[in-house]
Amino acid sequence: MCGIVGYIGKQNASSILLEGLKRLEYRGYDSAGMAVHQGGGLKTIKKIGRVDNLVSAANGQKFSGHLGISHTRWATHGGVTDANAHPHLSTDGTLALAHNGVIENYQNIKRFLLEQGYTFSSQTDSEVLVNLISYHYDKETCPADIRLVESVRKALKHVEGTFGIAVVCKDSPGQLIGARRGSPLIVGIGDGEHLLASDVAAVISRTQNVVYLKDNEIVALSPDNFTISTINLQDVSPIISTVDWSIEDAELGGHAHYMEKEILEQPVSLENTMRGRFSDDGSTANFGGLNLSSQEWRQIDRLVFCACGTAWHACLVAEYLIERFARIPVEVEYASEFRYRNAPLEKNTLVFVVSQSGETIDTLAALREAQRKGFRTLAITNVVGSTIAREADGGIYQHVGPEIGVASTKAFTSQLLLSAMIALYLGRLRDMSYTDGLALVSAFKSVPQLVDRILDQNDRIHDIAARYADYEDMLFLGRQSMFPIALEGALKLKEISYIHAEGYPAAEMKHGPIALISDRCPSVFLAPHAETFQKVLSNIQEIKARKGKVIAVASESDPFPDDLADELILLPDAHEALQPILATIPVQLLSYHIAVRRGCDVDKPRNLAKSVTVE
Ligand code: G6P
Repeated sequence: MCGIVGYIGKQNASSILLEGLKRLEYRGYDSAGMAVHQGGGLKTIKKIGRVDNLVSAANGQKFSGHLGISHTRWATHGGVTDANAHPHLSTDGTLALAHNGVIENYQNIKRFLLEQGYTFSSQTDSEVLVNLISYHYDKETCPADIRLVESVRKALKHVEGTFGIAVVCKDSPGQLIGARRGSPLIVGIGDGEHLLASDVAAVISRTQNVVYLKDNEIVALSPDNFTISTINLQDVSPIISTVDWSIEDAELGGHAHYMEKEILEQPVSLENTMRGRFSDDGSTANFGGLNLSSQEWRQIDRLVFCACGTAWHACLVAEYLIERFARIPVEVEYASEFRYRNAPLEKNTLVFVVSQSGETIDTLAALREAQRKGFRTLAITNVVGSTIAREADGGIYQHVGPEIGVASTKAFTSQLLLSAMIALYLGRLRDMSYTDGLALVSAFKSVPQLVDRILDQNDRIHDIAARYADYEDMLFLGRQSMFPIALEGALKLKEISYIHAEGYPAAEMKHGPIALISDRCPSVFLAPHAETFQKVLSNIQEIKARKGKVIAVASESDPFPDDLADELILLPDAHEALQPILATIPVQLLSYHIAVRRGCDVDKPRNLAKSVTVE
């Protein structure tokens, strides 16, 4: 949700800023802009639309400075206009700021600044912040080398809300300032240069050494040095981390879209998720970072899972699998509801949060709320060093590499696999036998090959998609662990193709959604091998009787009545704990091919952003 890049060094800042912005575009793509320190001033350019628009516009102008900031926007305050695009300049043009987050008390501050004679050319909360910094800059009497950082510090003391910011000043050609609270910001440490960015993806082509800033920290960067302190003036010793993926992991690699690349990568990403995580005797899972002994786990009576979007669907599968295999009651909450609901939780409850990015603000707030109440918290995240990963009491990294397509795919199946592995781990601490544990571990190890076999049907699913791309409504139906996959299938389809789609428990369909069925509303049935298989066949009959078309996803060895489905996609037979992963692959491919056929920008669907860091 908005991406920021800052650069200070010896190279041409503009090309580095624009390349970085392109890698952060998944965070928002309403408008983009850049401010570069050159010729004794701040040369600024802003364009609505994608970063490519900005790149074309910048090509026609001479950007040559070695210090600058840039921003790609997901609009919150103020419409999508050039004026509302970042960076924002202070009224006198001395300061420029790029901001990710929301300044909640901006109206009060704006009123004060208007009285002081400041003027505003945008409707954003961010322009208020740059002018508040300017107000303190004018009042600051300290030495020139710390004047900028001190004015940022003073301004931030008056700010309520969230921010990740990058600030440059016309009078300080050797300084770039960054600060964060609630929105991510990292420092990239290069050779004679430093970068600021919302995410490591923007710096990885220049350095793998980064510092993850914490809330309420300010960093002052020069080409050769950086110092971090808190807003309250405490010095901070930086911890330098090495990013464990390379630039190739974040590139298209010959694929048409990141979503396609990430779907096809799943055999490898699932392998990476489970690597080194099984016990030597092959009967259970091992997780290094849970920070909880077996004895402590025995005291846990209930789990609460919180997440948003696709990760929330993974939590629903976790509920099913953990209750089924470990017999521990699980509740699943939307993080955005949990944080305000003040739900009474029993004493021996553990709270899990699940977030690919590790930055989703509602999930982070749910984590903090659980911690505030004294509950132990664990996180499943993909992004190493993300805020949620750092703040949880323990956790599990997904290790699927960068996920760049806005619609989550490989991160989701990895969350499903980890859910099944947690179910195994907790099951083995309770009543699951050694033999059942062995069977599950061996099943897990077969996942990459099974997923490969489904991906072999890509061409067939592409052809099926061609027959369904012109519909405007679709239902996704499944029972038990297939219900969350139905929700996920509907979400995938609607978010990237703009087809209205709903996910429902297959048997509930009779209580309302069946009214939608006609020859204009097809249904996708997720019906792999299960005790309810015959019941699902009856549900399909009910749809067929009403002229609804049916795409069925079933298991190879289950006899599927001839001609019952219009399209049949067969999954290899597998342990029931794996079926959610396997059934996900066809619905991902179906959505992808339908959206491409409809001419949609699948990697950047309208109105969405991958990492939602505002409430
Ligand atoms: C956004 C994305 C979804 C994602 C959700 C939660 O809505 O578009 O794909 O599932 O955020 O993101 P997280 O990073 O917390 O998993």
